[in-house]
Amino acid sequence: MYKDRILRLLRSHEGFLSGEELAAKMGISRTMVWKHIRSLEREGFTVEAVRSRGYRLTASPDLLRAGDIRSGLRTKTVGKVVQLLAETESTNTVAMEMASQGAAEGTVVIAEVQTAGRGRLGRKWISPKGNLYLSIIFRPALPVHKAPLMTLMGAVALASAIRSACSLPAVIKWPNDVLVSGRKAGGLLTEMRAEPDHIKHIVLGIGVDVNMDPDALPDSVRAVSTTLASEAGRSIDRTALLQHLLRELDRWYRLFLSSEGAVLKEWKRLNCTLGNRVSVSGAGEAFEGQAREIDAEGRLVVVLDDGSERTVAAGDVSLAGKSPDR
Ligand code: BTN
Repeated sequence: MYKDRILRLLRSHEGFLSGEELAAKMGISRTMVWKHIRSLEREGFTVEAVRSRGYRLTASPDLLRAGDIRSGLRTKTVGKVVQLLAETESTNTVAMEMASQGAAEGTVVIAEVQTAGRGRLGRKWISPKGNLYLSIIFRPALPVHKAPLMTLMGAVALASAIRSACSLPAVIKWPNDVLVSGRKAGGLLTEMRAEPDHIKHIVLGIGVDVNMDPDALPDSVRAVSTTLASEAGRSIDRTALLQHLLRELDRWYRLFLSSEGAVLKEWKRLNCTLGNRVSVSGAGEAFEGQAREIDAEGRLVVVLDDGSERTVAAGDVSLAGKSPDR
């Protein structure tokens, strides 16, 4: 697309670029260059135009663009197809539908805003603009009981991406909350379609609170949440973070298919749950104990005060002395 190419050229050029130069590089007329620049301005870019010097990009909107996301991504599976939506109910719903209709493995559905975002355990995921909401379609040849490991894989990829793109010390709270400074900055929701003996497709839904106004969250959620921008003290380049995330997912998914142990090892390295006293709730019961281990299927092993062990497949875990879950 000419518009994307013009944007790339303006971005990679510090000073002015003449209309003539842009037109020559693109093989189009100067009038067409001007039309594409007007269209970029309508998208929220600020382009300074000076008669004898040409065009210079002076400001960019905090908006995701499919061309930017794909540019230089170089992944093998994840992000080969990117569907970017301005608004949708839930990217998981869209991705599950696309997966049923045969969409390719690695297809990513992204939305700027979700009107009915879903969290774990039937909760809502409040999804205003400024954050990341995405769902990725996977088709791993795995038995159904291995599905929870895909969520752990996603949590490893998310924590790693936040670490490398934002230089923030992201950690994972079992099963798949990503925390920064003890507060939740992101979460994962996995949904799947399966036959009795194998997975047909899995949709990994990821929500990350990046640049949103924290006031958009109700008090109860805000108390236990954070945004990457408030942790970093600056606004975060969402495209760069998203690209890190897609690359990490691509890498960790391939590693996972060849060695589940590698994912579990990295999950353990990045987790903040094991070794701590935890309160576990869900499935109609609540108890406290010491989080000892995760097993080969990603379940949490908790040692109770009487020395007995409980293995938890799903539920909420809060670390001792911390506020309850979001
Ligand atoms: C959690 O409860 O921690 C999981 C939150 C998952 C939210 C993401 S946002 C993108 C995708 N679409 C949804 O409706 N939910 C997931």
